[in-house]
Amino acid sequence: MPIDAQLKEFETTWVPQLNAPLAAAIAADSGDARLAEAMQYSVLAGGKRLRPLLTVATMQARGVSFDSERHWRPVMALELLHTYSLIHDDLPAMDNDDLRRGEPTNHVKFGAGMATLAGDGLLTLAFQWLTATDLPAQTQAALTLALAQAAGPHGMVAGQAKDIQSEHVDLPLARLRVLHKEKTGALLHFAVQAGLILSETPQNQWEPYLQFADAFGLAFQIYDDILDVVSTPQELGKATQKDAGEAKNTYPGKLGLQGANQALIDTIQVGQTALRALPASAARNQLAAFFSYFDTKRVENR
Ligand code: IPE
Ligand code: IPE
Ligand code: MG
Ligand code: MG
Ligand code: MG
Repeated sequence: MPIDAQLKEFETTWVPQLNAPLAAAIAADSGDARLAEAMQYSVLAGGKRLRPLLTVATMQARGVSFDSERHWRPVMALELLHTYSLIHDDLPAMDNDDLRRGEPTNHVKFGAGMATLAGDGLLTLAFQWLTATDLPAQTQAALTLALAQAAGPHGMVAGQAKDIQSEHVDLPLARLRVLHKEKTGALLHFAVQAGLILSETPQNQWEPYLQFADAFGLAFQIYDDILDVVSTPQELGKATQKDAGEAKNTYPGKLGLQGANQALIDTIQVGQTALRALPASAARNQLAAFFSYFDTKRVENR
């Protein structure tokens, strides 16, 4: 099967299953109806669910099958946290965006105060869900530490802090790579790490998986920045042609579209090479198929 069809099939199998319990689970864990509505609004608006899909694929690569009773909340915790990061990223004081996942942004619909709280609620509920399971306490603690490190002031939040401070400041490429690693790479790193923790994979076997995750994470933000230039709001469900206007540091801004696309191709190569260190298997091919998310012909075909 071509690898893009393989990713599509994986999405078709898993996304409905991952999404189905969300509305009720968020409502059950919320004490205020309007807050629950605001949290559900952004989570249920859609989204590709690539992060939980990566966790499931990593678990499968380690021979553990997904048990919804035990794994669904810990696996979906990251999607709650990611959605919080998007709600806050869109706020007027941050990127000031009106469209997200094809719908008006949370603050446009609910106001900046409630949007801030919906983000706060999702961030906190993510940690509750990591521990709402009968998995061993050691597994719960490892997940909690790893997500705190990925999402917090040494991870995604640090990257977002660098992002807003460096508008109108020309960052060298090496520093932009660090910014991307923090703001976007850290949560994708956790997506794979969560699969390793949930499958109780010994740490001395983590390296190739995490190299794959980190290449995927850098490629992801390079591609997001390319799509901002070449794509439309209809295609993406969010505003485009925004980064240059806000003087954001991006790969296309620094290297041009062709240069950014080449960096994307090179980064995918790094990730593919990392996966080749693992024994050949269908599950390894499934991880490799995630690279088909990146259309490296998008730039030349526009
Ligand atoms: C968007 O993430 C934010 C970035 C890290 C670039 P996604 O492109 O995964 O957004 P959704 O979840 O599909 O909406
Ligand atoms: C966002 O980067 C990364 C986050 C941590 C939310 P962007 O600001 O480029 O993401 P989009 O383009 O708004 O989705
Ligand atoms: Mg941003
Ligand atoms: Mg943004
Ligand atoms: Mg973007």
